[in-house]
Amino acid sequence: MISRILCIGAGYVGGPTMAVIAKHCPTVQVVVADINKERVAAWQSGHPPIFEPGLQEVVRASLGRNLRFTGDVEHEIGEAEMIFVSVNTPTKTFGQGAGRAADLQHWEKTARSILHHAKRPVIVVEKSTLPVRTAEAMERIFKNRRQGQRFEVLSNPEFLAEGTAITDLETPDRVLIGGAETPGGQAAIGELVDIYARWVPRERILTANVWSAELSKLAANAFLAQRVSSINAISAICEQTGADILSVARAIGTDRRIGAQFLKAGVGFGGSCFQKDILNLVYLCEHHGLPEVARYWEAVVSLNQYQKERFVRRMIRVMFNTLAGKRIALLGFAFKANTGDTRESPAIQICQELLAEQAHVCITDPQALEGARNIFGSSSERVTFEPDPYKAAEGAHAVALLTDWAEYRTLDYRRIYDAMERPAFLFDGRNLLDSEELHAIGFNVYAIGRPDRTDL
Ligand code: UDX
Ligand code: UDX
Repeated sequence: MISRILCIGAGYVGGPTMAVIAKHCPTVQVVVADINKERVAAWQSGHPPIFEPGLQEVVRASLGRNLRFTGDVEHEIGEAEMIFVSVNTPTKTFGQGAGRAADLQHWEKTARSILHHAKRPVIVVEKSTLPVRTAEAMERIFKNRRQGQRFEVLSNPEFLAEGTAITDLETPDRVLIGGAETPGGQAAIGELVDIYARWVPRERILTANVWSAELSKLAANAFLAQRVSSINAISAICEQTGADILSVARAIGTDRRIGAQFLKAGVGFGGSCFQKDILNLVYLCEHHGLPEVARYWEAVVSLNQYQKERFVRRMIRVMFNTLAGKRIALLGFAFKANTGDTRESPAIQICQELLAEQAHVCITDPQALEGARNIFGSSSERVTFEPDPYKAAEGAHAVALLTDWAEYRTLDYRRIYDAMERPAFLFDGRNLLDSEELHAIGFNVYAIGRPDRTDL
């Protein structure tokens, strides 16, 4: 029975996952180590550095009991029986595979650090999303072990989505654990199964070989992103033909074989995973001589790119082919609601394109304003940041809703309209608002995949 768990990487995945493990395994000491001292201090003070509904309560319940955050990665490696690796693995920006392959430098550094500092047999659990066969590479690093050291490597990909991390962790559709088909590998799988089985029904804990587990994570994200690109592709046809994407999505989604989820057309998918994982899959296909498969998945990313460009093109076209000098308020900057995360947010590209058209952009967001400032704060005098959505819209020619925050549904749009320039344009990039109601107020409304509602 494992009594001491270490997680390296206190980010969006490591922090919430360990807090939930600590909650359900009160007899297990859970330590989360990170090289970023500020992050560590925030977690340890009970004020998580990331916004995630319900997270603070779960963290505080175990802090000081069996949950601890620290910057001393090396010391903790020496004490741990099971080590989760949850460091970030972004897309490579340099050298071979730049723009597609995963940047594994943090991951490899972590593997070497485990090798140097482990003092007892350790089960190493890959939590970071990694290219298929990375666990094998990790095992090769561990082949240089000293006498008495023993390592088993498992893959346990995380399927939580941001904004719903705690519910996803508490009641997962499944937990997936990949391990070697050796007695040692199977015993290690058993130890990790025992941890999850404290709160997850056994039939939802799936086991596989390591490569299947690694590939399943990439495949699951590719399928989800593909659905978003598919509905967005249909939304483009809707705008040309007068069909309404909401009716089409309902009609498609009621087919039980298709299902209703992930059929929301919008400004495109963002987040740290979808694009990165698909590009990873594309790179893998190319590497293994499967160019047709690579092109198939690549199209999911290209369509996503196209959807963002299309959104801005429509804005330019209906606003008399010029945005120069016009004030545009962006409602929302996070890549989705209920998170402050701006990684790969569609708002980034949209904002860049609006600036290229010489528009003045005012960004508002309940959680991601700091993130927006980090990206655009010093890039142009034409970007401003405003916590109050009403102020953001003051004097604007257009409002573009980019994040599906529930609170944007209940804003006083008459008040917003009254403070805007005429004609007032509203671009609903998430189909969050009631277009008819807004049109009745006086807005010229353009929602994704829906007929224009305008008097112009
Ligand atoms: C996770 C996964 O690890 C990634 O592969 C997946 O695709 C997305 O989810 P996430 O938790 O979102 O990443 O990343 P991030 O919030 O950036 O957290 C990673 C943490 O690891 C950071 O706090 C960073 O300081 C820490 N880190 C990084 C280390 O402690 N050591 C390192 O060597 C590198
Ligand atoms: C995703 C996966 O869902 C999760 O299982 C995996 O572990 C990490 O990647 P996440 O990126 O946090 O999670 O959010 P998700 O809810 O999947 O949304 C991703 C993007 O797709 C967001 O930008 C969202 O707005 C967009 N999206 C989602 C749509 O545009 N339409 C939809 O119908 C669903």
